[in-house]
Amino acid sequence: MNSVSWLNSKGLVGVDENILYYYSLAKKSMGEKDLPERTALKYLKKAGGKCSISEISEKSGLGDKRSGIAVGWLKKKGWARFVKDGGETFLEMTKKGKKALRDKGADEELIRRLAKGGELPGEDLDEYVVKKLKSRKELLKEERKVIRTVKLTDQGRHIVDKGIVLKPQISQLTPEIIRTEAWKEAEIRPYDVKAFAPTKYGGKRHPMKREIEIVRRVFLDMGFTEINYDFIQSAFWNFDALFSPQDHPARDLQDTFYLERPAKLDIEDEVADKVKAMHENGGGTRSSGWGYKWSKEEARRGVLRTHTTVATLRYLSENPDPPLKAFGLDWNFRSEKSDATHLSQFIQIEGIVMEEGANLNMLIGLMKEFYRKMGFDDVKVRPSYFPFTEPSLEVFALYKDKYLEMGGAGIFREEVTRPHGIDCPVLAWGLGLERLVMLRLGIDDIRDCYTDDLTFLREYPLL
Ligand code: DAH
Repeated sequence: MNSVSWLNSKGLVGVDENILYYYSLAKKSMGEKDLPERTALKYLKKAGGKCSISEISEKSGLGDKRSGIAVGWLKKKGWARFVKDGGETFLEMTKKGKKALRDKGADEELIRRLAKGGELPGEDLDEYVVKKLKSRKELLKEERKVIRTVKLTDQGRHIVDKGIVLKPQISQLTPEIIRTEAWKEAEIRPYDVKAFAPTKYGGKRHPMKREIEIVRRVFLDMGFTEINYDFIQSAFWNFDALFSPQDHPARDLQDTFYLERPAKLDIEDEVADKVKAMHENGGGTRSSGWGYKWSKEEARRGVLRTHTTVATLRYLSENPDPPLKAFGLDWNFRSEKSDATHLSQFIQIEGIVMEEGANLNMLIGLMKEFYRKMGFDDVKVRPSYFPFTEPSLEVFALYKDKYLEMGGAGIFREEVTRPHGIDCPVLAWGLGLERLVMLRLGIDDIRDCYTDDLTFLREYPLL
């Protein structure tokens, strides 16, 4: 094999591979015994064509396990059918069963042939019957043989025709060869740096993990604090406290996973009352609120958070004193079918900056700076709408002469910050991580961000 593969890699021979399968009985003794269903069929005849299933296992000599198998095959081969009689199940021989008493089946014929012939090549056997027998445990032994045919190529023949002189060649120097100076006489085989060698793949991070690390680094380097909050939240924090009205379409079952356990979560009265006032009448701010009757029960419902804005808001409510910079890089859940552009579980790059005098220009500058660090120099924003920010904007990045939407941003509304005693501006954003990774790695289907395709993962460059 070694010399053949050398000749092959030099183009001097061609190699054809032909794979053959050989079959034999797994156990020799199998050729002498009936298949369990035949033993059962014979017993059935002795019992007058009908008997109970328990009778077969007790009296046919098959034992519990094999009689179970036998009954299964009696049914499958149509040799017997089940009939109910006075609460018990009986087996009754069919016409086909009667016929089978005389004629052996193709599978049994094959077993007989193998018992006589020992090992037979697959090409001589009926493929269908072999497949059937292979599906039964411990009946057939299959052996795979590879027949390789070696043929001289034109180039090979040319060399042979010119005449070959055999000379010893050293492919590996040993202390022996050096000591005896045998190398002086022999030819030393030159290194072939292009020779085929199996590729070795070491372990490495999943590209998604690596990308998350890069994004995290960018925010940590800019002095942000990373925050983490539970996936399970009350609708209150996920929606109400973000000034999303209780009849907002995003709160629909179709978009949000509501939880059975916990079905309801507690909300502190003090903050609940303030948020209630915001929704109903604007809570003494310049806002007039949404003007509907707010329900605390609705707000208590347990949800899988639909965005990480809930995390930054909770962090703010616990740390209401400026200045503050925080980010989260974490999972969110939405009740929608996954496809090439949607996932029901996805990660958002969420962040806030609370600082006296913070303004829209700073926010836009920050977004541009972030995407520039991620390799996108051309970033645009356009006005948008979110219930919790005013003004609101959408962020776009240029990718292959198209501006693609990357996420949302804005300045938190008074209705969102005031219930926590905050009156300093808070810049906020929530960007899609998978979208960003898709562009950076050239992935077309968002689901592939989380691929477990080993070939892709192995071949994906480290740098
Ligand atoms: N939470 C929004 C979403 O999931 C994204 C978002 C928009 C987050 C504006 C923000 C923001 O913090 O200011 O679609």
